[in-house]
Amino acid sequence: MSQDLPRMSTQVLRIPETELGKFRDGNDQEKLGSWEVSQTKSPSIRILNEAAQHLKTKNTPVAFPTETVYGLGADATRSEAVKGIYTAKKRPSDNPLIIHISDLEMLRSILTPENPENASNGTTNTNHDLIPEIYKTLIERFWPGPLTLLLPNPVPSKLAPEVTAGLKTFGVRMPNSPLALSLIKLVGAPLAAPSANASTKPSPTTAEHVLEDLDGRIEFILDGGPCFVGVESTVVDGLCDPPLILRPGGVSIDELRSCPGWEKVQKGYKDQSETGKSVPRAPGMKYKHYSPKATVILYEASFAVSYNGIQAQDVETFIKGRQSQQISRNGSDGLQIGIIRTRHWKPAAGLRCGDFKSETVKTQNGQENHFTIELDVQEAELYDSTTEAPIGKLMDVSIGTDTRSIAHGLFSALRELDRRGADFIFVEGTVDDEDIGAAVMNRLRKAASQIRS
Ligand code: TXA
Ligand code: MG
Repeated sequence: MSQDLPRMSTQVLRIPETELGKFRDGNDQEKLGSWEVSQTKSPSIRILNEAAQHLKTKNTPVAFPTETVYGLGADATRSEAVKGIYTAKKRPSDNPLIIHISDLEMLRSILTPENPENASNGTTNTNHDLIPEIYKTLIERFWPGPLTLLLPNPVPSKLAPEVTAGLKTFGVRMPNSPLALSLIKLVGAPLAAPSANASTKPSPTTAEHVLEDLDGRIEFILDGGPCFVGVESTVVDGLCDPPLILRPGGVSIDELRSCPGWEKVQKGYKDQSETGKSVPRAPGMKYKHYSPKATVILYEASFAVSYNGIQAQDVETFIKGRQSQQISRNGSDGLQIGIIRTRHWKPAAGLRCGDFKSETVKTQNGQENHFTIELDVQEAELYDSTTEAPIGKLMDVSIGTDTRSIAHGLFSALRELDRRGADFIFVEGTVDDEDIGAAVMNRLRKAASQIRS
């Protein structure tokens, strides 16, 4: 289905300030009960008010940062606004969307049927907390944060049907970003928001990434600097027994298991490598997601560890096999090869190459910066290890050795190598069972055209 719309002018609005509001902590108040937006008239608050006004009245979504990835937000209570997300992303509306709330007050309001008198289940006991008990410790421990909970959608519901895609549940999270919380509060309604990338591309972790994908398709991108976590939230279903993880993300399975009632949480998703599909898969034979334009070849950690050093040979054989068939994407002689390293690989993955030209690509959060995404990209001429003949260009980037750092830089590194014209990107995988390694590997397996294990 072609979803074309007239080109808009897209504005990137910087919001460097971080003191945008706080949770009210009056006597007897629940810790996350109510988010209060700062009463100052700062430029940041003025921009947030304008963006909120747009979200309340217009049907084009607004991109905003969260701690995980940038989201493409729309008022979750208005169908026309939610449909605007799919139009901007050029994505069919077959998937339910996560809604983002500012505080528990907003969550309870959604859990309350729109019109209690007519509610189909007729249970409107006001003394009963509508937030299921099973979620209480998770909320206390991980909200605001990268955890999405599945909850029963009341009938009738305040949420637009496009949000839940016909399901009886909705997914909700409270993002750990004062900017996001303030924006939601000013709208006064939850924001439905998938990642703000074009369909199939890696999720955006900076405002520049959003602009790359959605320039001309949305009106506003709120720039709050790079995202701290770098992969999407963990999605859990605590309404079934045992509870399930539906998508791995910024909260690890071990963290979940340490919570009462969640000791037996199971993996309720399957990665490509477990679905019995042929591995390695032929490029182009699958539904790709999180993918740059370049072809991604993923080395599982098992390969990296047990065959340490062998990958250089394997990569070189692969490149030579492609040399005669393909000219580079950018028309240059020889292929452009990207390497993303994590724990074990040597620089250039051990391939033979000339002197490195190094460049640090830095994205940060303006003057009140508290973290940055810093990518050290090294470029060199690539040689045939036996004949020493030049066979292309190599671009090497190391994204760290622990899974939190890897998650933080992963999507940025894929995009940066793509921007530099990589034809192939070879990625050193990490282990699933360390911290949020499962989330990193889940995204990489989806991005990859081939998996070496
Ligand atoms: O970190 C994140 O979660 C980001 C940022 C922007 O907050 N958002 C995000 O949203 O990734 P979205 O809408 O792309 O993610 C939706 C995920 C999908 O995996 C979807 O299948 C699952 O949540 N989901 C949402 N509602 C669901 C439901 N009712 N039942 C089952 N899965 C649901
Ligand atoms: Mg997404």
